[in-house]
Amino acid sequence: MGNFEFSNPVKFHFGAGKLELVGKVAGEYGKKALIIASDSAKPTGLLKRVEQYLDEAKIEHVFFNQFMQNPLSTLVMDGAKLASEEKCDMVIGLGGGSAMDMAKGIAFCAVNPDSIWDYVYGKQAAGALPILLVPTTAGTGSEGNRTAVFNNPDTNDKKGLVNSLIYPKVSIIDPELMTTLPKRVVAGPGADVLFHAIESYISKNSHPISEMLSLQAIELIARYLPIVYEDVKNIEAWEKVTLASTLAGMAIDCAGTTLPHALQHPMGGLLNVIHSEGLAALYMSFMEYTYPAAPEKFANIAKAMGVSIGHLSTMEAAACSLDAVKKLLTTVNMMPTLSELGVKEEHLDWLTNNALTTMKVVLSNNPKVPTGEEIKEIYRKCL
Ligand SMILES: [Fe+2]
Repeated sequence: MGNFEFSNPVKFHFGAGKLELVGKVAGEYGKKALIIASDSAKPTGLLKRVEQYLDEAKIEHVFFNQFMQNPLSTLVMDGAKLASEEKCDMVIGLGGGSAMDMAKGIAFCAVNPDSIWDYVYGKQAAGALPILLVPTTAGTGSEGNRTAVFNNPDTNDKKGLVNSLIYPKVSIIDPELMTTLPKRVVAGPGADVLFHAIESYISKNSHPISEMLSLQAIELIARYLPIVYEDVKNIEAWEKVTLASTLAGMAIDCAGTTLPHALQHPMGGLLNVIHSEGLAALYMSFMEYTYPAAPEKFANIAKAMGVSIGHLSTMEAAACSLDAVKKLLTTVNMMPTLSELGVKEEHLDWLTNNALTTMKVVLSNNPKVPTGEEIKEIYRKCL
């Protein structure tokens, strides 16, 4: 088992209707909030509800919506400038992974004056504004950890700021907010939950607590993602899926991700490939490459996904995890190829080199660490 540490300081409020706590919670951290949300939070009435709860609690608020999927670090600096000019006491991230990561980045850069990339690469930071998160998709798990991922438009690098200062103070996880999501936004982030759970479980940095979080997340997402995909109004199933997302987000906080995320980030940086779709395209190839190096772990993944493995050898059971993942991804229509996502043979050298340089640590978490040639071959198989 070895020695290990575990810590997670986030206060979580789980449950249908918990959004109404946002004003009361914000009142614990000051009198003025910067709300980070996309314009899609307007027509659904969600932004209005949050503003109303803040008004009732007498919290002033300012709105910032300048971001997109794979958010740019330059826009983080714009948001941080606004937070400082408006003298905001806290940042509220309302939305999917991009909104939550932007909220973390802005809260961080409002206090630390240098380029965010200096801190990504280890510069000591002074603090951050308090961060409150309200996820409106079940996917990144950002609500449960200290990571925020950004694109650097100067280098096309996509990399995470990992810093204890950006743990959210509070995350409000309200499954009612998921019941109007289009199928693609159920499936993509839902698949990312599975990927976080699998990768944190097989990571060389996993420990007994992270493994419990990962396995529970695998079990919940495998069982309930197909249900919410078919019936988006099913609140009981959403309770399970949102819990799985947060558990997996906590698990990667302990153990990190592995090979698929290391290969997906370069595609997000260079070609703006959607995170979950890039991962889904890579997944079968990654599993085929990796499972013989950690058969017990992959056998447990198969079991957690509902496969009956009692009569099988460990290696046979491990191989079953590939079929189980393929079946789940097929059920939620998440089996793209890299070619369909815009990746071409001519990109493979750049992607491979970028993975080897910027994602070295993540690659080293994989039970079998690939060479450059192997990485290129994994990409190529997925075209
Ligand atoms: Fe992810």
